[in-house]
Amino acid sequence: MKKLILVNGLAALLVLLAITFFSNCATSNVAMNKSGAQLWGENCVRCHNTPSPETFSDVEWDVAVMHMRVRANLTDEEAKKITDFLKTAN
Ligand code: HEC
Repeated sequence: MKKLILVNGLAALLVLLAITFFSNCATSNVAMNKSGAQLWGENCVRCHNTPSPETFSDVEWDVAVMHMRVRANLTDEEAKKITDFLKTAN
């Protein structure tokens, strides 16, 4: 009985580890390999012409990307990279 519980526990742990491992990879790999400029070019033209970085101030970009983050389904990291890029290029 004790052994069975241990085996079950181990199996559950393995499943949990696998889920954490694979879901982490899927999100962080994409964001890690791409620059803010690249993410901006790929994501912000899907629905409209992407406004050039000079269009808005730093504070305005914070707000715009916060809204577009939800629409574009971006991760925190991707949104941050895009915002950083826009702020250095405006
Ligand atoms: C899923 C579609 C979609 C994606 C992807 C998207 N947008 Fe938008 N965007 C919209 C829509 C719809 C509007 C107009 C309605 C609104 O403001 O919510 C808009 C409006 C805007 C505006 C306001 C335009 C203005 O002249 O006031 C800015 C700035 C903007 N988007 C920037 C971005 C940036 C930067 C990205 C990339 C991170 C992005 N958008 C990705 C759909 C999208």
